[in-house]
Amino acid sequence: RKGKTPEEVVKKYLQKVKSPPEEDCTICMEPLGGPSGYKGPGVTPVSRAESVGRLAQCGHQYHFQCLVAMYNNGNKDGSLQCPTCKTIYGVKTGNQPAGKMEYHVIPHSLPGHPDCKSIRIIYNIPPGLQGAEHPNPGKPFTARGFPRHCYLPDSEKGRKVLKLLLVAWDRRLIFSIGTSSTTGESDTVIWNEVHHKTEFGSNLTGHGFPDPGHLNNVLEELRAQGITEDDGLME
Ligand code: APR
Ligand code: ZN
Repeated sequence: RKGKTPEEVVKKYLQKVKSPPEEDCTICMEPLGGPSGYKGPGVTPVSRAESVGRLAQCGHQYHFQCLVAMYNNGNKDGSLQCPTCKTIYGVKTGNQPAGKMEYHVIPHSLPGHPDCKSIRIIYNIPPGLQGAEHPNPGKPFTARGFPRHCYLPDSEKGRKVLKLLLVAWDRRLIFSIGTSSTTGESDTVIWNEVHHKTEFGSNLTGHGFPDPGHLNNVLEELRAQGITEDDGLME
């Protein structure tokens, strides 16, 4: 995977398009029938025959060079996400900094889940220096509110969510580095699009219980990161 060039990675997920449709490429907004409007560094010319590609699973079409530019702007992990429908090609990973994820069962019930115990997840991430995959490489990042404690019902569905969260952690998708929408602080560790419940017996922040839709929402958010129930089975 490491040895593949960005062009090779992108090509792997594309099918050839003989005659491009009379539409614009939604990455660069230029017609698919003409050249890519992307003029960044590292753009290597391609022959006309392969200037447009169709993503194999979802069918959305883009300039080949636009997809390569998009790939180069990401964390170059060998995966690609369709910018239109978010279909993921390969295994998506994130830029979560180093840290620890632990969990255990606690013998108390969560509001809305009176018939089972609870799972407490403890995330711990220390502050550090940003790597090449972060917004400001070389600059320090802060880490507020750690250890962060999160709760799930210890039900069949709660345990399924836990399994998938463990996969998400391994793929560095639980946290990211950026600007906190709560505090406005930049260059700090933030939650990354998979909601967690951080309150146990109350719901003062809105991130507590009861919340009947929570587990389904999380499964949906995990799916959007490319993590499905099949991933849980392989753990
Ligand atoms: N608990 C759980 N999720 C939260 C919380 C919270 N207290 N506050 C915000 N979120 C969710 C938001 O709904 C959003 O989807 O996290 C996502 C990112 O929000 P940010 O404010 O950018 O994230 P972050 O700075 O990491 O979190 C703010 O969450 O766990 C606490 O200690 C943490 O006080 C901090 C707060
Ligand atoms: Zn384009």
